Amino acid sequence: TDYPKGFKDGFLWGGATAANQVEGGWNLDGKGMTTAEVIRKSEKRTEMNLGSVTMKAIEEAMADTTTDHYPKRRGIDFYHNYKEDIKLFAEMGFKSYRMSMAWARIFPKGNETEPNEEGLAFYDRVFDELAKYDIEPVVTLSHYEMPLDLTIKQNGWASRDTITSFTRYTDVVLKRYKDKVRYWLTFNEINVSSFGFMETGAVDSELTEKEQLQIRYQAVHHQFIASALVVEQARKINPNFEVGCMLARMQTYPSTPNPADVRAAQKNDDLNLFFTDVQVRGEYPEYMNRYFKENDVHISMEPGDEAILKMGTVSYLSFSYYMSMVTSAGKTGDTSLGNMINGEKNPYLETSDWGWQIDPVGLRITLNAMWDRYRVPLFIVENGIGALDKLGADGKVHDDYRIKYLEEHIIQMKEAVMDGVDLMGYTMWGCIDLISASTSEMSKRYGFIYVDQDDDGNGSLKRYKKDSFDWYKQVIEANGQNI
Ligand code: BG6
Repeated sequence: TDYPKGFKDGFLWGGATAANQVEGGWNLDGKGMTTAEVIRKSEKRTEMNLGSVTMKAIEEAMADTTTDHYPKRRGIDFYHNYKEDIKLFAEMGFKSYRMSMAWARIFPKGNETEPNEEGLAFYDRVFDELAKYDIEPVVTLSHYEMPLDLTIKQNGWASRDTITSFTRYTDVVLKRYKDKVRYWLTFNEINVSSFGFMETGAVDSELTEKEQLQIRYQAVHHQFIASALVVEQARKINPNFEVGCMLARMQTYPSTPNPADVRAAQKNDDLNLFFTDVQVRGEYPEYMNRYFKENDVHISMEPGDEAILKMGTVSYLSFSYYMSMVTSAGKTGDTSLGNMINGEKNPYLETSDWGWQIDPVGLRITLNAMWDRYRVPLFIVENGIGALDKLGADGKVHDDYRIKYLEEHIIQMKEAVMDGVDLMGYTMWGCIDLISASTSEMSKRYGFIYVDQDDDGNGSLKRYKKDSFDWYKQVIEANGQNI
């Protein structure tokens, strides 16, 4: 038999965003406050402000009704500009658009019995607009945010009750958009629970590392159960639904061929792939039993949980890929959930303006390895480069570095496809400039479309096409065969 020579027909080329990074309209039409809206903008460019939130900081944030320190409240005003933005996506020929829904638009406090109709109507309008251009929505149900009230009342995902709150919301939206959306994702980058609050909605920054580890893995267990229950709901509501999981993939290399370093890298990889092991295979992998014992983590499970996990496996695996990691024996942060970001320098790689190590070949390595491990369709739902773009006097952004980054990654994707990997699609992250997840900056730009807004929220919000806009249009037109 022959091998595939390129991307399949119907390959889902597109772009990705998240509600709390683009929408704005944070207090409009009945929407409740979210966990993303109490995270302050980082003071320094590379300082990640993900998990360090205290109850005191939340109270301060709640008392502040401006968007000044909380850029995720303003986003890029997609809430009012969605028509113009989707039109631009269509002009590039997008086949898919990955977006997330703000749970607090639908259930403002998380535990109401009736949903907020105005919130539901907003997403109807967005999906209808996408349908006009035959753009397939890929919808993340939980992308780094939840109704803030759930944090205050039940400490977010640390509480088992949050499963019920969540599945009430998902039941409503799966039914409402039954004929408008086919592809769903449950939790964005579920492994980012290693940072705490942003993913788990649980305030734990004043606890010891050991206590944090306990609370974070327990929160993840609740998310696993919730995700599996969504799969079950989806099957009943529309058998054509596809529900996937989503991992921030951190391919780890050993720093040397010393077997001890190779083993350290393997262990790091396992801690990262633990999440997909559960969500794709439907059970906790054995290696975690030992890990939990050695780190004094006790997952409290209810009878029936194991059966739920088994029943609720996902039909595809999606992931983000920005960089690879390097580790050595002795330096591995044994107690972190995958030891993200804190890796060592790889002398063979260049870095982005934010120090992220650029590694296109690593994408092929991870695609091949994940296909070998799981044998389910893969979907790259985030990849891209955050850069300090300059809007010229001619109204243009010459982002050849972005074209280079994307081209090199797409070449490697194609290689993986030729190796037989089943790849469903590629949604470039931040297809329109948006607020950074980790630092809340505007100046960390990913888009094909430039948005005139600075870190303090000044600017006309006008949209401009970057050079990469036309380049991506050609890639989609040629189904990737032009590169
Ligand atoms: C992923 C997230 O971690 O990476 C996105 O799912 C995020 O929400 C993206 O924006 C890039 O990270 P950052 O911090 O540069 O915005």
